[in-house]
Amino acid sequence: MSCVEGEPCVEGRKRRRAVLALGLMAVIFLALSAVSFLDSRGQSVPNTVTYAGHEAVAGKRVFQAYNCMGCHTLVGNGAYFAPDLTGLYDKVGPAWLEAFLPSAGAWPTGAAVRVQLADSDVAAESGVATLDEYLAKYPAAAERIERRSSHASTMPNLPLTRSDVRALIAWLKYTSSMNTEGWPPVPRVDGIAVRRASLAAAASLPASAGIAASGSAASGSAASADAVPSEEARGESLARDFGCVACHAADARRLVGPGWGGLYGSSVPLADGSTVQADEAYLVESIRTPDAQVVAGFTPGSMVSYAEILDPEQIAAIVAYIRSLGENTR
Ligand code: HEC
Ligand code: HEC
Repeated sequence: MSCVEGEPCVEGRKRRRAVLALGLMAVIFLALSAVSFLDSRGQSVPNTVTYAGHEAVAGKRVFQAYNCMGCHTLVGNGAYFAPDLTGLYDKVGPAWLEAFLPSAGAWPTGAAVRVQLADSDVAAESGVATLDEYLAKYPAAAERIERRSSHASTMPNLPLTRSDVRALIAWLKYTSSMNTEGWPPVPRVDGIAVRRASLAAAASLPASAGIAASGSAASGSAASADAVPSEEARGESLARDFGCVACHAADARRLVGPGWGGLYGSSVPLADGSTVQADEAYLVESIRTPDAQVVAGFTPGSMVSYAEILDPEQIAAIVAYIRSLGENTR
């Protein structure tokens, strides 16, 4: 439309206004583009990202191999059957995960976490040396121990090796340090009060059968939270934490496997018709490679090998515990 002669003409003014508005928009667009490059919200920018290392990459493979994603969510991907694992490492710390992952059939006890802290690598990774310091630094681990320790868990007990566990933890550490801008949201759970004092007491392994039988170290009420548990007591909690007690009774009863009561020093009939003396070496062998010598009346393959799961010290503690359950009384 152009101006009609004799009438007031506003065309030029309208055009100037439109050009001005367009120019203003262009300036705003350029300014916002520039601002989006500023590190204004502390978000990750390429020069703040560091390479997570081989361990985390291996852990991702383990995570995929066991299809953890089929149940868990991680960084927004996965299923909603099981808890979100994205920020878990920061909350529960490496020692709790070391205790949980290889024995997911049951929730770890304070003692199990203490056992992990005895490993200098794990202690260094956690940044603390004692259980009390650990629970103070990782309150979510304290809460899990308080509420659930040694209860059965609904997570399948996966046959993870020690190196799988280490790799998984490196992977969870990596995802935990990602900036997810507050995702996942924290669920609101009311009514859980963590009583630190009762936790420390629970973790000091009082009044267990192993201690009573050995009559050593932590006897009486003077046992403090820092007392080193006796080897038998450590063995007992390892047997519980690693799920041995699901198959082995502390007396001579047969469950899935033979009972441990009175086993030490007795002669064990084997499936191949021979007998063997249940000494230290035999028991260690039975835990490391159960199929090497199968007890008469049992089939090979019913117990997994713990050679990769337990270190020699832990196996020795379990053997000491088995010994404390009576010698050659069958
Ligand atoms: C079949 C489903 C399933 C699979 C597969 C599975 N989980 Fe779980 N997981 C669970 C459930 C269910 C829980 C919660 C257990 C409970 O509350 O008793 C859980 C709990 C956990 C926890 C503790 C979470 C917390 O907040 O305390 C960790 C850690 C964990 N799983 C890691 C893994 C890893 C790593 C894998 C793979 C190697 C894996 N899970 C595979 C079902 C699964
Ligand atoms: C799924 C069940 C199961 C679990 C879990 C299990 N075992 Fe066994 N265990 C068996 C069976 C079955 C046998 C007998 C067959 C054989 O000798 O391999 C056995 C045999 C043994 C023996 C030899 C017993 C004898 O009378 O000579 C020892 C020692 C032993 N297990 C220790 C352990 C320890 C320690 C753990 C945990 C770290 C454990 N087991 C976990 C099933 C299990």
